[in-house]
Amino acid sequence: MLTGHGYTLDGVRDRLGDTAAAALAREELIPALRATRDGDPLAALIRLWWLGTAVPEGALPASDGLWRELAGAGLVAAGEGGALRATVHLQPWETGGYVVSDRKVRPGDPPLRPDHVVGAGGASANLAQLVSRRPAGRALDLGTGCGVQVLHLANGRAGQVVATDVNPRALAMARLSWRLSGITTGVEAREGSMFDPVEDERFDLVVSNPPFVIAPADGLTYRAARADADAFCRDLVRRAPRHLAPGGRCHLLANWLHVKGEDWRDRVGGWLAETGCDGWAVQRDAQDPAEYVELWLRDSAEQGGPGYRARYDAWLDRLAAMDVTGIGFGWITLHASGTLDPVVRVEELTQRVELPVGGYVDDVLGSIAAAHRIGDDELLAARLTVADGVVEERIGPPGAEDPARILLRQTRGLCRVAPVGTAEAALAGVCDGDLPLGPLLGAIAELTGTETPAGVPEAVRSLVAEGFLRVP
Ligand SMILES: C[S@@+](CC[C@H](N)C(=O)[O-])C[C@H]1O[C@@H](n2cnc3c(N)ncnc32)[C@H](O)[C@@H]1O
Repeated sequence: MLTGHGYTLDGVRDRLGDTAAAALAREELIPALRATRDGDPLAALIRLWWLGTAVPEGALPASDGLWRELAGAGLVAAGEGGALRATVHLQPWETGGYVVSDRKVRPGDPPLRPDHVVGAGGASANLAQLVSRRPAGRALDLGTGCGVQVLHLANGRAGQVVATDVNPRALAMARLSWRLSGITTGVEAREGSMFDPVEDERFDLVVSNPPFVIAPADGLTYRAARADADAFCRDLVRRAPRHLAPGGRCHLLANWLHVKGEDWRDRVGGWLAETGCDGWAVQRDAQDPAEYVELWLRDSAEQGGPGYRARYDAWLDRLAAMDVTGIGFGWITLHASGTLDPVVRVEELTQRVELPVGGYVDDVLGSIAAAHRIGDDELLAARLTVADGVVEERIGPPGAEDPARILLRQTRGLCRVAPVGTAEAALAGVCDGDLPLGPLLGAIAELTGTETPAGVPEAVRSLVAEGFLRVP
């Protein structure tokens, strides 16, 4: 019924157009109201749910019983003068389904209730694109909220999904999201904190977009856990391995503190090192304390409100008391590879990457593990190939005989860039799977008039770890 009236992601985008969509992103409604003033059913549905404004009852065709059906499901209610108001936010999602959450909060709205259920947004999409595309038998979505991750997993990617949340209102809305998206089997909702609802159970896949915000007694369950600082994310990482089946993967979004005198890589690396899994943590962004506080006060539409200055000040006090210099935002992936020699890689990647990362995340983990675990002899005997999409860039003054710098650049996947020496550049040029690495290194040394390296040079191992060179 909703799709029949064009209430889909494309339908909304087409109707609003770029200008109104951009204005909405700045919390300005007027262009979107102008784009939906025709009064047809799609305009009414956009106004009801996308914009959260009232529509006259007659705006939804009585003939197809649409509004009665929506009212019956508790999604709209009659307001003053027979106008209809949405009781929830109902948004079409990129999977083709629908997501039900509390109404979006806008500046000037009353404060959020503590058990507010947040809608699907940028962070939800970020996690969904990170998750491995490898089919999973059993999956766990911890902190399901509006249920959006299940929409992604139920698309044939997981046989059975357990979705948990500490907030019963979230579970009620998640169930509605699944029903409206045609997901009627293979998903089970359970109430409880952290891994409590799945105490003795193991999963092939665990995903979580957790309440990662580092806030002082925030009281908003959807974004900030009761745990201190970044302890909730740390504990998720530490406890996840006990719930992973052999070979299982866990993908989390997380925030972590940058504390004076401590390298954030050591902090996050320490969480992962205790898991016994192969681990990969990526910082995608970092903000200073003031930017961070402003971001989350804007998120709950508190900017300019009566308590804004006091909240801002108190939040900064809390961060200052912990010697916080910044907050990192990123992804954490664990792989229960079963090895006795797990590897942990923590890095910053701020460049644009090919999406979805889930399409190649298993290759990324495989490269990191291969570079860590293969002995020198085995690697010297391997017939390496240069990865698809790697190009070489030579940079130097115009007309110079030799470049000042040589870069290897990935045009696919994580789009990494590696500055290399002439020997590694030459190696990348001849790694076509024909000859083993050892003889290639020997031939390059002869050509460049240098000594054949005794083992595998660290720079070559690093090119393997970063996916420039592939071990068959
Ligand atoms: C940021 S929302 C994520 C919603 C959704 N999964 C998504 O990807 O958009 C975090 C969710 O975690 C839930 N949550 C908060 N504390 C929790 C806890 N201790 N255990 C489990 N879930 C919790 C919140 O109620 C909220 O629904």
